[in-house]
Amino acid sequence: MSRIQAVKGMNDLLPGQIGHWHRVEAVLRDVAWRYGYQEIRTPVLEKTELFRQAIGDQTDIVEKEMYVFEDAGGVSLALRPEATASTVRAGNEHGLFHNRKQRLWYMGPMFRRERPQKGRYRQFHQFGIEAFGWPGPDVDAEVIRVGTRVWKELGVAGVKLHLNTLGSEASRTRYRDALRDYFTAHVDSLDGDSRRRLERNPLRILDSKVPETRQIVMQAPSMMDFLESGERENFDSLVDSLSRSGIEPVIDDRLVRGLDYYTGTVFEWVTDQLGSQDAVCAGGRYDGLVASRGGHPTPAVGFAMGLERLVELMSVQDIPADGGNLDVYVISMADQQTAVDIGEALRDAGYRVCEHCGGGKLSNSMKRADQSGARFAVVVGEEEQAEGSVQLKDLRGGRGQVRVPRESLVQTMREIG
Ligand code: HAM
Repeated sequence: MSRIQAVKGMNDLLPGQIGHWHRVEAVLRDVAWRYGYQEIRTPVLEKTELFRQAIGDQTDIVEKEMYVFEDAGGVSLALRPEATASTVRAGNEHGLFHNRKQRLWYMGPMFRRERPQKGRYRQFHQFGIEAFGWPGPDVDAEVIRVGTRVWKELGVAGVKLHLNTLGSEASRTRYRDALRDYFTAHVDSLDGDSRRRLERNPLRILDSKVPETRQIVMQAPSMMDFLESGERENFDSLVDSLSRSGIEPVIDDRLVRGLDYYTGTVFEWVTDQLGSQDAVCAGGRYDGLVASRGGHPTPAVGFAMGLERLVELMSVQDIPADGGNLDVYVISMADQQTAVDIGEALRDAGYRVCEHCGGGKLSNSMKRADQSGARFAVVVGEEEQAEGSVQLKDLRGGRGQVRVPRESLVQTMREIG
């Protein structure tokens, strides 16, 4: 019988890798908590229409990457490709933005049917934060500081912040017109996708990876020249605030995002240590999305980071994972209940313990103790059972073996350290 394998681009996370994941997840929860963000959990399935309208129907995600199927009543549903749209939907649905500001975070699997390669998967995980109700630039700087603190707490180095602004609706419209004129003049040198985008979404051409198109993009007009004075001041004040926190972004006036909801500030952290999938975290401001989804006009800004890329970066940089080893392996050659009782008492004292199961010879059980990675083995033979003692063996630290009364086992382990 042929063995069924996992779906392409969807990974199992095996016990050997999970320590890094635990560390990343713990740091992310802690950082979000310390900045006053609250968790929100939304379903992995939403109506397809939500993503089509929020992300934009000419984006790669909506055009080719969503897992879509029809529900019984003919309703089209999609596995979420990202969670900003879902967070906005949930906020509107439950009145979270009514006369209230919200700092929210989420973490979980997302789904995009992209061509799988290293760092790009069809099921991947994001941690994201979304701040609703503040027009910026203070909160833009806060969101960026949250990301920066994540790198600091994890000990990840070499992620560089790229920053741009897409301006207001009015200035973006003028910029879009100027870009359309410019690209129309060079239409013969553009790739097919870019030509298709020329009419409705010329900004996305700036993001093209096709070498010939990139040549044209290099000479294209810059958004910076189309900002109104207030917008320019806001952007400068954001850069200044970041600089006061020791964050020096690369101002990248070609940075646009692959989702249509962005307005104003946009940013991405990139690294040169992960190959072509170099964006570890990305986000920006989306002041129009809440209202366009039927809510009160609510300015908003946020980001999402890819956990697979973060975990990979930790491996590349040799950053230790959360310790996965056992503290104690308990073997009883007398009766199993003795091992169980000792195990439970050690867990009461906070230790991580496994009891040997399935009997067998002492030498084999000791081999298992060693393979378990535990620091100590606790062994009870008939003699120890009779006198209420145990043999405590230091498996790693070279302190040998001592016989101790059962009631002073924890004390002795603490003394050994
Ligand atoms: P995004 O740029 O599409 O933005 O994704 C954010 C991050 O998710 C990327 O920088 C990358 O680290 C990770 N990522 C995306 N696709 C994949 C993939 N196929 N495999 C592995 N990792 C991936 C958003 O999703 C926006 N919702 C971010 C946001 C939140 N903007 C405002 N608030």
